[in-house]
Amino acid sequence: MILLGLNIDHCATLRQARYRDAGTTTGGPVEPDPVTFALLSERAGADGITVHLREDRRHIQDRDVWRLRECIGTRLNLEMACTPEMTAFALKLKPEFVCVVPENRQEITTEGGLDVVGNRDRVRACVDAMNAAGIKASLFIDPDEPQIELSAKLGAPFVELHTGAYATAFHGPRRAAEFQRLRLGAVRAHDLGLTVNAGHGINYVNIAEVRTLPHLHELNIGHSIVSRAVFTGIDEAVREMKARMRG
Ligand code: PXP
Repeated sequence: MILLGLNIDHCATLRQARYRDAGTTTGGPVEPDPVTFALLSERAGADGITVHLREDRRHIQDRDVWRLRECIGTRLNLEMACTPEMTAFALKLKPEFVCVVPENRQEITTEGGLDVVGNRDRVRACVDAMNAAGIKASLFIDPDEPQIELSAKLGAPFVELHTGAYATAFHGPRRAAEFQRLRLGAVRAHDLGLTVNAGHGINYVNIAEVRTLPHLHELNIGHSIVSRAVFTGIDEAVREMKARMRG
């Protein structure tokens, strides 16, 4: 069964839209609380909680991450930039997983995959530190052979294949090609001994095809579930996605 890692960043986006300057992340009128969102998601069947502590702190704040570390009962996956500051933060936090992502201050969300090939030494330092601390590291990469091969060589136990290009192409002529790229990437990663996760832009429609990718261990899904929850509530939004993941 494919696991669901629920990315709750956009619950925090909604809170920050109103309470960025409140001086607190919880209490009083400050809502919605991403930690409450996480706990309700777990009760509805999420297998893990994912947050991206961005350098610009545009959504998730440090205190959210520490509260999650204390409260959740599943597994915490910290998405982080490949920097010495974030590596030090992760070593203190000790999440079960980290997912190393590229970060560019201007982007609306994570755009391309991590360039492992172009940042080999930095990525190696981060992966080595996580392996030594017993934190499972995943590298968020485009499904391209050189990135996959180097990820395996550097000793990362997981990769998360970036499904964003596929999701963007979903209603256009490049959909089949992007899906095939993901399929070949998943096979190659699996052959090299990597555990294969995927994420970005997965929704209630494209999940029907995404779930057929070979060797999938976990999908990290955020925006579509948080958006659906606005209408249906968290419980139904999570249960519906889990049902579609099962097919
Ligand atoms: N995986 C990674 C590495 C991401 O950066 C994101 C977006 O924050 C996601 C998954 C979730 O993407 P979406 O919100 O489009 O489901």
